[in-house]
Amino acid sequence: MSVLNLEVKRLTAVTPSIREIELTADGALPAFTAGAHIDVTLGNGIERSYSLLNDPAETHRYVIAVLREVDSRGGSTWVHDSLREGDRLVSTAPINNFQIDEAGETHLLIAGGIGITPLKSMSHRLLARGANFSLHYCARDRARAAYLDELTSALGERLTVHLDGGDIARGLDVSALLSKRAAAAHVYVCGPAGLIRAVREAARDWPKGTVHYELFRGDEADVAPRSSDRAFEITLARAGKTLTVPPDKSILEVLRANGIKIKTLCKEGVCGTCRVGLLSGKADHRDEVLTDAQREHEIQVCVSRALPDETLVLDL
Ligand code: FES
Repeated sequence: MSVLNLEVKRLTAVTPSIREIELTADGALPAFTAGAHIDVTLGNGIERSYSLLNDPAETHRYVIAVLREVDSRGGSTWVHDSLREGDRLVSTAPINNFQIDEAGETHLLIAGGIGITPLKSMSHRLLARGANFSLHYCARDRARAAYLDELTSALGERLTVHLDGGDIARGLDVSALLSKRAAAAHVYVCGPAGLIRAVREAARDWPKGTVHYELFRGDEADVAPRSSDRAFEITLARAGKTLTVPPDKSILEVLRANGIKIKTLCKEGVCGTCRVGLLSGKADHRDEVLTDAQREHEIQVCVSRALPDETLVLDL
C-alpha cells in the first residue's frame, strides 16, 4: 500500500470539540470515493483511521475532522493539543469499505455526531449525481453538530436534523424511518454503536447488501476492556506458538506485539477486517459483524476474547 506524506495545511475548530484538518501534498493526491478513510500515523506514533469528509471530486486535498474524546486513548487528545499547521503526517492512500452502491435508486444517510464525516462526502457525491437521497443528522444540540450550516444550505429539504438534547427518546425514530423500504433503497449509517445497532435491527428484513454502516472512530467506551476481563491463552496453529492475552489487551494487540501483521480498520468489531480463522476453543464474540454460523470458525480479533477457561486456537 502506498504511503502518503501529507502537510497539515489548515486547522479549523468547526465546533468547540471538533477540529477539522485539511491535508495536502506536493502534487495531486490519489483520488478517493465517498465513504473512504485514511489511516494516519500521528506524531505520538498512534495510528488512527479518519473518514474523508470533502467532495471526492477534489484532488488537491483531503479533509478530516476529529472529535476531542473525553476518554481519549491518545489519538484525539494529540490531534487537538499538539498538531499544528505546517506539520507533516504519514497516511495510507484512501481505502473504502463504506461505498455508495450507485445501483441504488434511493439513498438514506443517517449520521450520529462525528459520524457525519463520511456521509458529508457521500452527500457531495449524491448531489453531483442528482441522486435521490436524504440525510438524517442526529446530534445532541446545534453547537455540537459540525457542518450544520453548510449542509443546510447545500441540501435544503434533503436534510433532517434530529437534536435530542441528550435524551435518546427524543431523537430519530429509526424503526419508523426504516419500517418501509422504498424501491432499491440503501441505508448508510455512521455514528455511535447504539445507532448502528438500531439501524441494523430496524432494517433486518431489508435485502442483503442494502444496509451499510461504519462506526465513527473514537467510540472507545464500547470497546474498552471490561473490569471482568481475564487473561487467556491463544495458540497460533501454523506458527506453533502459544501467547497470553492479558486482561487489558486485545488479541490483536498481543498478535501485533509478537510481530504478526493483521489488517484492521475500525478496531471496534464492526467492519470485519481483522477476521481470523478460529480452529478450536469457545470465543466470547463481541463483534457486530459475524453471523452465528461464522462464529463457529472465525473471530474478530480486535474485540473478541475467550470464554472462561478456554484456549483459542487460531489459524495463524
Ligand atoms: S478491525 Fe474492524 S472488526 Fe476488527
